[in-house]
Amino acid sequence: MAVSFQDKVLAILLVAFISLKPTSSSQHHHHHHHHGLKSLHFALFQHETINKTGYIIVNGVTGPGVSQTTTPFGTLFAFEDPMTVTANRSSKIVGIAEGASITSGLDGLRSISIAKITLRLKKYTGSISIVGGTHNIKPSDHPVVGGTGDFLFVQGIVTSSPVNLTGITVTYKIEFHLYWPPYATQASLPYK
Ligand SMILES: *[C@@H]1O[C@H](CO)[C@@H](O)[C@H](O)[C@H]1NC(C)=O
Ligand SMILES: *[C@@H]1O[C@H](CO)[C@@H](O)[C@H](O)[C@H]1NC(C)=O
Ligand SMILES: *[C@@H]1O[C@H](CO)[C@@H](O)[C@H](O)[C@H]1NC(C)=O
Repeated sequence: MAVSFQDKVLAILLVAFISLKPTSSSQHHHHHHHHGLKSLHFALFQHETINKTGYIIVNGVTGPGVSQTTTPFGTLFAFEDPMTVTANRSSKIVGIAEGASITSGLDGLRSISIAKITLRLKKYTGSISIVGGTHNIKPSDHPVVGGTGDFLFVQGIVTSSPVNLTGITVTYKIEFHLYWPPYATQASLPYK
């Protein structure tokens, strides 16, 4: 099981590397026009270090105690986490995730999260705002509620999946599936 998990992580990293490469090198490879929608797909890695980039602001009231994967119901947590291009914390930082979460599951595993993700990619600079439910040990889809800069009018899904939950720094893979409605593409033309 451990081996297959590692293989999976390796496969994820490989896919992340391959899918990120076009983002930084060529605008043509990652612009897809499915059903007339411009889209962008890539993955980054979010690193959260307890008491350094993420803090419990208000203690929860019931349920499991604080661990790498659980927090008591009602816990308010705030974070400003770096996002890198590979799972290695030392790899290039191209984003910052700032936000807060409130533990909303009595099992201590689920929370409602809001976050602003500021990105500095080669061809895209701006921020994406997301809101949704996060599961601490399973992949979770967060709807994109909007963006700024090059991400103005953006919609889609941001999926977070745990990569490494051991140690004081936990790492999540963050997959972006972004779509611009037709009017956004038209609106942005005069400025490009
Ligand atoms: C983080 O800080 C809190 C409050 O000072 C402390 O109770 C907790 O043990 C710390 N956690 C870690 C993992 O250092
Ligand atoms: C992470 O990157 C650093 C600096 O590039 C390197 O020294 C280190 O070996 C890498 N760690 C892993 C686990 O690949
Ligand atoms: C997870 O992180 C811990 C602590 O940094 C490290 O010792 C371990 O090798 C990592 N595991 C994997 C699968 O990368």
